Amino acid sequence: MAEDLFIIKGTKENQYQSLLPQIEALLVGEDDLIANLANIAAALKTQFNFLWVGFYLVKDDQLVLGPFQGPIACTRIQKGRGVCGVAWQENKVLVVPDVDQFPGHIACSSASKSEIVVPIRQGDNVLGVLDIDSEQLNSFDEVDEKYLTQLLRLLPSSV
Ligand code: SME
Repeated sequence: MAEDLFIIKGTKENQYQSLLPQIEALLVGEDDLIANLANIAAALKTQFNFLWVGFYLVKDDQLVLGPFQGPIACTRIQKGRGVCGVAWQENKVLVVPDVDQFPGHIACSSASKSEIVVPIRQGDNVLGVLDIDSEQLNSFDEVDEKYLTQLLRLLPSSV
């Protein structure tokens, strides 16, 4: 496994293109979901310095906080609640340019201004979600959606 992440400057696309192969290398030979999610959260936080990067995992029909980097966060989210709960219920990526405009947004941190949530899929099931928060409005777009979706497909447990 690589000892250090190679961090680059450049466009968002360049940053993802540099980061994804490094994350792929980190995942090789490791099939433990929590270990892999922990490294993915750290890698995304280190490259992009987002406010919060982390995972919620489906347990007993709720989302429960998993590995993350950033400020402390709420531990449980019900299906259909907040950005995460809606992304899970609808099994789709949600890009929220301004969290104050999202009905039912759950404000774990008042510093969060925009957000993207990407489901972790296994066949037709959703195992959990990747949630990223930014301190700026309009931080996320289809570039993030494309690369974060690709990234989650690298997980041995997802399909
Ligand atoms: N804002 C999320 C809750 C999780 S925190 O952002 C870490 C939501 O509305 O689902």
